[in-house]
Amino acid sequence: MNAYSEHLSRLTATVDRALAKSGHEHLIIASGIEKMQFLDDMPYPFKPNPLFKQWLPLTRHPHCWIAYTPGSRPVLVYYQPDDYWHVPPSAPEGEWTAHFDIRVINDPAEAAAHLPPPARAAILGDADAALGVYAPNNPAALLAYLHYHRGWKSGYELAQMRQAQVKAVRGHAAAERAFRAGASEAQIHAAYLAAAGHTDFDLPYNNIVALNENGATLHYQYKAFDAPARHRSLLIDAGAEHNGYAADITRTHGDGFEPFEELIAAVDAEQRALCARVKAGVDYRELHLECHLRLGGVLRTLGIVDMEPVSMLDTGLSSVFFPHGLGHPIGLQVHDVAGFSDEDGALIPRPAGHPFLRMTRTLEPGMVVTIEPGIYFIPTLLAKLKQRPEAKAVDWDTVERLLPYGGVRIEDEVHCTDGEPENLSRDAFAAL
Ligand code: GLY
Ligand code: MN
Ligand code: MN
Repeated sequence: MNAYSEHLSRLTATVDRALAKSGHEHLIIASGIEKMQFLDDMPYPFKPNPLFKQWLPLTRHPHCWIAYTPGSRPVLVYYQPDDYWHVPPSAPEGEWTAHFDIRVINDPAEAAAHLPPPARAAILGDADAALGVYAPNNPAALLAYLHYHRGWKSGYELAQMRQAQVKAVRGHAAAERAFRAGASEAQIHAAYLAAAGHTDFDLPYNNIVALNENGATLHYQYKAFDAPARHRSLLIDAGAEHNGYAADITRTHGDGFEPFEELIAAVDAEQRALCARVKAGVDYRELHLECHLRLGGVLRTLGIVDMEPVSMLDTGLSSVFFPHGLGHPIGLQVHDVAGFSDEDGALIPRPAGHPFLRMTRTLEPGMVVTIEPGIYFIPTLLAKLKQRPEAKAVDWDTVERLLPYGGVRIEDEVHCTDGEPENLSRDAFAAL
């Protein structure tokens, strides 16, 4: 069986169990619609329902539907309008077409004629959008089950994710060259896009391209057109997409200033050690806490904080420098679903005091997670720290010297296997 066939049979088996659990006879999935901007005749960029693109690699296809009844071949209602304003979707092609009963429509309203009756159907789609054909009911129990099982990637999905990495690392290499050549954030971003083969619209998230102190804003959302007078550092968190599957990679580069280069090297070493810990049976929450201890060790070794790492964790001091989670599941979405719930949708709690951790599950073969430790110099958090007794453990002169560098984050995607972990990102960089 080839990788796509295996993916589809695994998916339908999961759906069969989900339908039995929720008491529905059919599954109907809407790809979505183009939503119009308020008081305008232009749509927002179209983003497909992730549950739709799990079935087949169609990402630019509004008004399409999948209908599946256990034991039957899935139906794809394929919207192909007669449109001279836009390029309509081309005729369906690819190995996936052999597995679907494809019905082409050129008016969205024709879809209903090809779908099973809604009474016993789970209908998945954006409830906010007036889909016009069938109203989505998004049964919670069924969604929780499907989301939970997205935690394990099929061979087909891993292949798509490896391809997304290939695009992203090309972009990262070009971005570093642009940084070294003195480009602005906007120019670095443009170099990234050209090398990755993407437009902004294709990206799975808004790239973070942060020069100097902007690196301290975790989700820095702008790209300045003016280059700064000095290029001290670049923190670039930039992704790519392949057939609907995401990459999410961060690298940090410096200008040779020794304390910052040491910080990059130290975070990189701890990041590699954490990636090596992505093994079956490891509770990701424990890994997150281990990350705090490791980064606490870095802060102490580099003379930034004079305190035992375990005390940094206990007092919350390590969270001043590392105020986000270790990472998250990734796949059809950058922050993939069900990172902190079980197959019934019940919450798997985060450790107390760590509200931003996006993954609380135990690692198992087939899961893909990001590992993204960071150390930042964030003025607002440092100002609050100055009011606390732990402030006396901080070497504020060193902090002052590093503030103009913003921070360091290193992020890879890691596939948990039966044996050694597969680092999708580093493998792609090595093959450049
Ligand atoms: N790019 C967002 C994140 O790393 O989670
Ligand atoms: Mn991430
Ligand atoms: Mn990221």
